[in-house]
Amino acid sequence: MKALLCRTFGLPATLEVAEVPQPQLQADEVLIKVSCCGVNFPDTLLIQNKYQYKPALPFSPGGEVAGTVVAVGDQVTSVQPGTRVVALCGWGGFAHYAAVNSSRVFALPPAIDFQNAATTFYNFATAYHALKDRAQLKPGETLLVLGAAGGVGLATVVLGKLMGATVIAAASTHDKLALCKKKGADFLINYSTHDLKEAIKETKKGGVDVVFDPVGGLYAEAALRTLIWRGRHLVVGFTSGTVPAFAANVALLKGASIVGVFYSGFAQKEPARNAENMHELMQWSATGKINQAIYKTYSLEQAAQALQDLIDRKVLGKAVVQLD
Ligand SMILES: NC(=O)c1ccc[n+]([C@@H]2O[C@H](COP(=O)([O-])OP(=O)(O)OC[C@H]3O[C@@H](n4cnc5c(N)ncnc54)[C@H](OP(=O)(O)O)[C@@H]3O)[C@@H](O)[C@H]2O)c1
Repeated sequence: MKALLCRTFGLPATLEVAEVPQPQLQADEVLIKVSCCGVNFPDTLLIQNKYQYKPALPFSPGGEVAGTVVAVGDQVTSVQPGTRVVALCGWGGFAHYAAVNSSRVFALPPAIDFQNAATTFYNFATAYHALKDRAQLKPGETLLVLGAAGGVGLATVVLGKLMGATVIAAASTHDKLALCKKKGADFLINYSTHDLKEAIKETKKGGVDVVFDPVGGLYAEAALRTLIWRGRHLVVGFTSGTVPAFAANVALLKGASIVGVFYSGFAQKEPARNAENMHELMQWSATGKINQAIYKTYSLEQAAQALQDLIDRKVLGKAVVQLD
């Protein structure tokens, strides 16, 4: 089979498409013929050895696949050959076949196609865990989303609206904000041209209950300072490249919480709650209540370019690699 291979750590240009053996199946694993693989920021960190997980070289990046089960290990009872599935595999997805632990594999309802599946569930599962389990977002609250036109950002805009919040989307370009508006955002802030804190003061409530922050850097403290009493600042990621050092006095004065969000850790440590969340998301996806915006479909040969486009902040919504 063919796969995109990371043989040495570096930028996407160092990746190559190569012929490799099909993965060996372990007793608790499922072998999937991959149809589509979503493109995510963590892929760009993995190949540069900047992520919390460190797969042994050589490996294929690609953390969320959708496709058809072709074989199952002796211990697997949840799916059978022929089942259409989505799998949050972490890596190994930019390949024609992927072997994934069965706890990370979810059967798809017929209404959800592979492209939709491979672009929806990692982002929405992260966003839902953040808003529901970590922030306990309530209807009527105000939610600020940074990097709002990115994969997890846009999923958070959509879920924030579905959960009854007023959503303020913050992003760096007019086109990115137009996409957020299309997905339901109530207020739009271009943080590359406007001061984030001042712009939030001008919105209806003058402050926010919850910040969803996958960006970090300079915007993080500005966003923390927009929280109102008992606000929650969700620490999701650091696409800016800078992990913020928060002023603890701001949290004290607002009775606020700075709350970590680690979806993979949640899925591993609380599999039953994660399965419940996935079930709800599947229903919402199957009935069209949630979906991603697909920016572009790339071939396996173009997958390295897809990762570079993500690093260059060109992607609006979600990029996807089609393998069949
Ligand atoms: N905690 C968890 O469990 C979890 C799970 C999944 C992902 N994540 C993290 O969430 C973050 C977003 O992931 P994603 O897949 O949604 O990424 P993405 O689609 O690339 O979106 C990230 C957004 O960050 C903004 N950004 C600001 N500075 C940037 C820079 N220097 N380089 C690139 N983007 C920059 C961009 O929006 P603007 O151009 O509008 O600023 C971009 O749209 C990543 O840090 C990822 O590791 C965390």
